[in-house]
Amino acid sequence: MPPSPPPAQDEDDYGMSLPALVVLRISIVFIELFTRLFDVLLLLRHPRLLPPYLRLWLHEVRVSPYRLKRSFETTRVLQASGQIFKELMYGEMPVHTGVWLFWKAGLGRGSRLVDLGAGRGRTLLAARWLGAEARGVELMQYHVDLARKPVEKAGAQLVLGDATQADLQDATHVFTNWTALTPQTRARLVERFRTCRPGTRILTVTRPVEAPGFTVISKHRLLFTWGPEHVWIQEFSDNVIGDATH
Ligand SMILES: C[S@@+](CC[C@H](N)C(=O)[O-])C[C@H]1O[C@@H](n2cnc3c(N)ncnc32)[C@H](O)[C@@H]1O
Repeated sequence: MPPSPPPAQDEDDYGMSLPALVVLRISIVFIELFTRLFDVLLLLRHPRLLPPYLRLWLHEVRVSPYRLKRSFETTRVLQASGQIFKELMYGEMPVHTGVWLFWKAGLGRGSRLVDLGAGRGRTLLAARWLGAEARGVELMQYHVDLARKPVEKAGAQLVLGDATQADLQDATHVFTNWTALTPQTRARLVERFRTCRPGTRILTVTRPVEAPGFTVISKHRLLFTWGPEHVWIQEFSDNVIGDATH
């Protein structure tokens, strides 16, 4: 599908009031302390993953993924992918959340997870914790440049690319934290999910895939860096007759 035309200016901001932003920031500090502590405790069970995790964390402290600047490069990338600035809004799934969710979705040795919109790759460590192969696809070069090496040290891959064009043929599980994506981008991702092999599990944050061929296995409320959020585990089937999507 060709990129959509540039958005109207009023569509293209985070759209939050100042008090809401302050409350969000304060709660995020507490969540950050809690989730980092639990991540580290969990990673002590697989100490090989701890140095890459700490390096990713250090990079976040040095260069925050949350403070995104509009630059010529960002505008160019967004125009090429047909997206708007607010779709780059950042947030992560803590490793402990990811381990629980992926385990629930049946990920383990012999499975392969693809994270579409992988950011700095924190979810990939959760997949590695379970012994699965893991690959992340991320649109923004600055995330990939900072995170690629630690992610590789954890035995995973982080590649630069547009998730709506990603190769999903080898995936047993596809995860996407698509909370900030517009309905148009989500629709393009759903078309991409249709290139998966039947039986592939699709894991989505905030909202499910609402299209024929995606059967809900389970729904959960889990902790993310910005607070509790719903997550759906669905299974893709190319046989859409009698399909239940909810
Ligand atoms: C909310 S973050 C999620 C990071 C990670 N998946 C996690 O859950 O911890 C969403 C990421 O998707 C990226 N993104 C947005 N549109 C994308 C696209 N078309 N292709 C690949 N990545 C994209 C953003 O740059 C951002 O890093």
